[in-house]
Amino acid sequence: MSESTTIRWEQDGNGDGIVTLILDDPNQSANTMNAAFADSLDAVLDRLEAEADSVRGVIITSAKKTFFAGGDLRDLIRATPENAADVFAGSMRIKGRLRRLETLGKPVVAAINGAALGGGYEIALACHHRIALDAPGSKIGLPEVTLGLLPGGGGVVRTVRLLGIADALLKVLLQGRQYAPRQALEAGLIHEVATDREEMLARARAFIDANPQVQQPWDVKGYKIPGGTPKSPAFAANLPAFPSNLRKQLAGAPYPAPRNILAAAVEGSQVDIDTALAIEGRYFTELACGPISKNMIQAFFFDLQAVNSGANRPQGIDPRPVTKVAVLGAGMMGAGIAYSCAKAGIQVVLKDVSAEAAERGKAYSAAILDKALARGRTTQAERDELLGRIRATGDPRDLAGCDAVIEAVFEDPSLKHKVFQEIEDVIAPDALLCSNTSTLPISLLAEGVKRRQDFIGLHFFSPVDKMPLVEIIKGEHTSEEALARAFDLVRQIRKTPIVVNDSRGFFTSRVIGHFINEGVAMVGEGLDPSSVEQAAAQAGYPAKVLSLLDELTLTLPRKIRAESQRAVEAEGGSWQAHPADLVLDRLIDEFGRTGRSGGAGFYDYEDGKRTRLWPGLREHFSKPDARIPFRDMQERMLFAEALDTVRLLEEGVLTSVADANIGSIMGIGFPAWTGGVLQYINGYEGGLPGFVARAGELTAAYGERFTPPALLAAKAEKGETFTDG
Ligand code: NAI
Repeated sequence: MSESTTIRWEQDGNGDGIVTLILDDPNQSANTMNAAFADSLDAVLDRLEAEADSVRGVIITSAKKTFFAGGDLRDLIRATPENAADVFAGSMRIKGRLRRLETLGKPVVAAINGAALGGGYEIALACHHRIALDAPGSKIGLPEVTLGLLPGGGGVVRTVRLLGIADALLKVLLQGRQYAPRQALEAGLIHEVATDREEMLARARAFIDANPQVQQPWDVKGYKIPGGTPKSPAFAANLPAFPSNLRKQLAGAPYPAPRNILAAAVEGSQVDIDTALAIEGRYFTELACGPISKNMIQAFFFDLQAVNSGANRPQGIDPRPVTKVAVLGAGMMGAGIAYSCAKAGIQVVLKDVSAEAAERGKAYSAAILDKALARGRTTQAERDELLGRIRATGDPRDLAGCDAVIEAVFEDPSLKHKVFQEIEDVIAPDALLCSNTSTLPISLLAEGVKRRQDFIGLHFFSPVDKMPLVEIIKGEHTSEEALARAFDLVRQIRKTPIVVNDSRGFFTSRVIGHFINEGVAMVGEGLDPSSVEQAAAQAGYPAKVLSLLDELTLTLPRKIRAESQRAVEAEGGSWQAHPADLVLDRLIDEFGRTGRSGGAGFYDYEDGKRTRLWPGLREHFSKPDARIPFRDMQERMLFAEALDTVRLLEEGVLTSVADANIGSIMGIGFPAWTGGVLQYINGYEGGLPGFVARAGELTAAYGERFTPPALLAAKAEKGETFTDG
């Protein structure tokens, strides 16, 4: 044992000269690049150098479930432009240590026993040989870009030297793709895959035996980067395509990380490795000290962890995993929900009006699985087993014994009441009752069942197998126990649950409506429709506003509007029309354009494929002199969503800032660079007072709907921000 405890030094008594370094931070469940690790690594390197005569080779592995988790995000989120010099120096120190490791003159093997993402894979890259254990859930890659960062521990420099510039960018750096061990092998990220720990360590020893003296490829004299560098004419000719492809991909959205990654890769490829590491360090520091990485770390690490760990789950209620779920309605949503449940190992009874209709829903799962099989992502046995868990039926009696029900029939309250009544006495007497309604109040739907306390909203997003979010809606009568069970069910199917209180449209459907309305209203004001689309893209929305509405269909907001208006007026309130209403009414009634499914919407379609923006928009709506600043176009959409989110907090529909941020990014495409809809307000230029002032300008220019809610004004006044707890 060395003096360090974060990295344990183990050496067999048999004098074979192989040192195993075991990463095992005693204070954390995962190893991270914290100060203790750095000290430990220094001590280990000193000892390796001092005992060089008796050391033949080194194996690095970990005693944790994961190999190594990466940089400590608690430190990184505190980086500011003022301490940029320290951030740069810190990154250079890590690189210096890893450089020392790879130039020890002894073979070093990474025995990757679990996930090696970010800093974990960077350590492995500094080893001469990488063997990964084929453990379930184990992932390898450099996902820093998804946190607005770049790999600052030599990851850009080494992947470029390992794979070549183009492959490093496309396969590893720009998308932050995470590979399962066998895929990582195929992509050239690692050298071997082992099926168990003993085999992994035996292979590591065999590598050391066979390669007593080994250098990294890039340290061998005469080494050339695969595929060439900008210095070679053939490569130089292709180089201009890189930034333009990237621009196209980003559609003008303000993500600085991909640009910095590209620059670090290209510049670093033309210089020696030490200079390249320094270049990488500078680009890393710029990102780490900027606001966008902080927003993304807050959202995708801290907020996501808070949400998934059950900050919103009522305490003291024992988990009761669901074993058999009934899914009512085998349409688009029901089919996807059935697949997700079966994938998590739950038995599914998928019911529709007839066995044939239910089988059509089950065929959706078969199609997903067949595609995965063709791509080598699943096996025939896994496919058959998963499909075997889904029973398609038209007979309510087949639901006997189900301990949860998820209803996904047409959006019609009386039909929803009817399908619950049909099965209430067949299912387990205390089964959880969930509805996947996207707009109907949960308390209204609960009136149709006997056990209102067990009734809850479980709002999935389309396509269900890909979308990670589920919005849980607590009705007026929903018990704490039902909420806890619904939360656990969402976690059981490995999705992310946010929890809101009942209200028409809940959080997500209501807020996305404001985005859509704002886009449509701008068309109505005579602004150029392609500029409206461009404004959404450049603001960072993954889907352009008019094309999104074409997908959802133009009649949907109109239907929701009619129902909401009826409900507001029934309660004696007065209904506020939106300038978008008129545009939609004309498109539907005058021009018969209802969206993609109707073959025509804001866009023209051929065989279901979007071809161009409908020229009639210019003819019937555009005004040649209509012009507003491009920034206003973007901010009208962002502000409309942010302001309504604050109103939802005021109304008590939303109760957590983390839920709002995560729900907005993962559910309705609010731009991820902002860190989510409330973090957008926190991070706005000038903070909350700056946001309030800007909302005032938008109100003056575009209407009362931009008036800051009282809660926002009060928080701005008090110098507060939106945070939990
Ligand atoms: P869909 O029209 O694709 O499917 C509805 C299915 O329900 C059909 O297969 C129909 O045969 C079946 N059905 C009708 N009466 C039935 C009965 N008595 N018993 C059993 N099945 C019956 O509709 P979709 O899009 O799947 O939506 C279903 C629900 O999910 C709606 O409440 C919708 O608002 C909600 N939702 C939809 C989203 C979307 O993106 N489409 C997103 C989130 C929620």
